[in-house]
Amino acid sequence: MKSWNVLGVVLILAASLAGPVMAKEKNSPATKDNGTFYSGGFTREGNAITLSGSSKSVAGPPMSDVVVVVKEGGSIQAAVQNADPGTTILVMPGIYSETVYIDKDGIRLIGVIEEGERAILDGEGKLNDAILYSGNNVVVENFTITRYKGNGIMSQAGNNWEIRNNLIIDTGVYGIFPQLGKNGVIEHNVVSGIEDAAIYVGMSDNVHVAYNAVFDSVAGIEIENSRHAIVEANHVYNNAGGILAFITPGLPIKTTFDVIIRNNFITANNHVNFAAPGSTVAGIPSGTGILVMAADDVVIEGNIIRDNKNAGIIITDHGNADNITVDPDSDPNSDRVKILNNTMLNNGYDAIGMIKAYMLTELKTGHPDIVRIGPTTGSCILNPDRYVTVGVSDFTECDFHSTSNIGNYLLAPVPPREISAQDRGKIAYLGICAGCHAYTGRLIGPPVQVIQALYMNNAKGLAEYIAKPIKKRSDYPEMPPQNYLDEETRLAVAQYMLELKN
Ligand code: HEC
Repeated sequence: MKSWNVLGVVLILAASLAGPVMAKEKNSPATKDNGTFYSGGFTREGNAITLSGSSKSVAGPPMSDVVVVVKEGGSIQAAVQNADPGTTILVMPGIYSETVYIDKDGIRLIGVIEEGERAILDGEGKLNDAILYSGNNVVVENFTITRYKGNGIMSQAGNNWEIRNNLIIDTGVYGIFPQLGKNGVIEHNVVSGIEDAAIYVGMSDNVHVAYNAVFDSVAGIEIENSRHAIVEANHVYNNAGGILAFITPGLPIKTTFDVIIRNNFITANNHVNFAAPGSTVAGIPSGTGILVMAADDVVIEGNIIRDNKNAGIIITDHGNADNITVDPDSDPNSDRVKILNNTMLNNGYDAIGMIKAYMLTELKTGHPDIVRIGPTTGSCILNPDRYVTVGVSDFTECDFHSTSNIGNYLLAPVPPREISAQDRGKIAYLGICAGCHAYTGRLIGPPVQVIQALYMNNAKGLAEYIAKPIKKRSDYPEMPPQNYLDEETRLAVAQYMLELKN
């Protein structure tokens, strides 16, 4: 996500908001409780799987009863390669230094925990990714993943996933990163020390992120260009930013909506922002509990949000974001944000200057729990007088008090996503390469123009390079290998990159 800068509009907003905001009567009414449930965002028919215990089975039962056991000294990847779809692969405790690619459906990769000892995937600071999958109905459970440089668990276009009970520690850029998937569960994981987002749901639908502990990372949990996501009962602390729901412009999927953020502990997310300079999360102000940017129909309910030094909740838009090229196909505003009852305490005690300046425009004193900067329509709040707020005086009172009628947005297993060969290149390019390569300027990697000159009619050569990049430029970092993309996709993305026009 992009760095952002809200100063630009402060003055404009000041003009429109500096109305009569003071001197409300303070007779401390009982908590407003409209006694009604959320009716938005969801149609029950055909939706909502039933829960059995705390576990949500979106992958369905095992497709076969074949079970393979990998012991220390063996190779998990070899077991995956030899497996038929539907195989359960049990991995015994021990240390495994490898990258596992799963391009088959129904693989259940389960670590066996014996007397507290787990199967440990150790990248030794050298390997890029621990587990990458593109298969559907994949389950990854019970691993410890540490010291990788890129991703802990990442997926491309797999549906019906369950990622559960993994410890992902000091691992690269993304801890758990499903991209372009539908119908997935991420629960009971512990994720820490991640340079970008610990849990990053990208361009996905029908997702449930629950009971995770996420800390010491730049961004805790991100819901990006995704719909129908519930983020609940997580403990999110000591990141630079806690929970984020937003749209990154320019990606092939253009919206984020129907996100419920409820019953989380979001505390002291005051970590120094240690994202790679120029990376998209580098601009999140440290101390931000929840950030909503350009996402619609986000409900924030029942969270305990405390000790976040910049602000408890920030609602903003693309217009206030630095470095963002507004995408004409994405609505830049956060509309219909619904803030129900939350417990907020001791936020905003060291807010960034622009928020302090914004407070002044409303003649507010104190430390901001809730900050809204930028246009929004249809947003509402319950009991605003409980918090220190700025920019929410035009929110209406929400006409419902709870989302507890919505257990989850999950589905019975859905069919695999179909992606045409042509779209394959475009999606991979926008989802992966564009984060590091811009058409003209330098990002993390060299400009596409330069690459086009180098590889003019040689898509095949480019595809080979990205599978196994070699270090070429002393003034650039290494490019991470893209060999988790299958050969066809590598060629498609190479072609797409070479044909790209500004
Ligand atoms: C994490 C950042 C990152 C991502 C993601 C990334 N690249 Fe790169 N890329 C780099 C860097 C850094 C270099 C420069 C490496 C060097 O010169 O040693 C590079 C170099 C290249 C080159 C130049 C090769 C040469 O011979 O000079 C090509 C081609 C390329 N990338 C294609 C891609 C494609 C296609 C994708 C998406 C599938 C992609 N890159 C994703 C960072 C990235």
